[in-house]
Amino acid sequence: MSGLFITLEGPEGAGKSTNREYLAERLREHGLDVVLTREPGGTPMAEQIRELLLTPSDEQMAADTELLLMFAARAQHLAGVIRPALARGAVVLCDRFTDATYAYQGGGRGLSVERIAILEDFVQGDLRPDLTLVFDLPIEVGLARAAARGRLDRFEQEGKAFFEAVRHAYLERAQRAPQRYSIVDAGQSLDAVQRAIDGLLPGILDRCRG
Ligand SMILES: Nc1ncnc2c1ncn2[C@@H]1O[C@H](COP(=O)(O)OP(=O)(O)O)[C@@H](O)[C@H]1O
Ligand SMILES: [Mg+2]
Repeated sequence: MSGLFITLEGPEGAGKSTNREYLAERLREHGLDVVLTREPGGTPMAEQIRELLLTPSDEQMAADTELLLMFAARAQHLAGVIRPALARGAVVLCDRFTDATYAYQGGGRGLSVERIAILEDFVQGDLRPDLTLVFDLPIEVGLARAAARGRLDRFEQEGKAFFEAVRHAYLERAQRAPQRYSIVDAGQSLDAVQRAIDGLLPGILDRCRG
């Protein structure tokens, strides 16, 4: 038995967490075993690495350190949560995964895609998400939503150019492999976003049964 691995991607304030809950409820209504998780984090040790990554600090974190910590947390998360859940046939809904590394450390920080790909193979082997929802919206809208949520984390403190590069990297990856990605217009009302997710449900359910 092998489950389905779905990731939710997009910048701050795009609605990933909100809609992850919504999608989980819809899938559970169909009797599916759904595991909700997030990156960086998802296990106690990986959440400690998340703290290190997100907490603003006086010491500047080198871009390579950031990249390696993302993959260190991911290795722990895969071993402790994602692989066991997929092995028992669950649907895993993960808030951010390796596409975020390509977008933030690749697009945002300017690290080479080739080096990220080497780490992706090293840590994940052949495992890739079956489906990735990219929540796309104008960066000002997302940042305003994130700011309204409270204190900004280390990434949220970055400037406009950083987030434009993140958005561009997500869209470019999605356009290069359209069979794996669905782009959701996340700048609409929450109702409209959830109707768009409803529209994806039949395809997701088919893949769960397939
Ligand atoms: N489509 C939407 N329209 C307006 N507000 C939204 C929408 N989606 C989410 N929000 C709000 O924006 C904030 C950020 O949403 P969240 O799901 O936490 O985003 P993310 O997890 O992508 O950072 C929350 O306060 C949420 O209620
Ligand atoms: Mg979130």
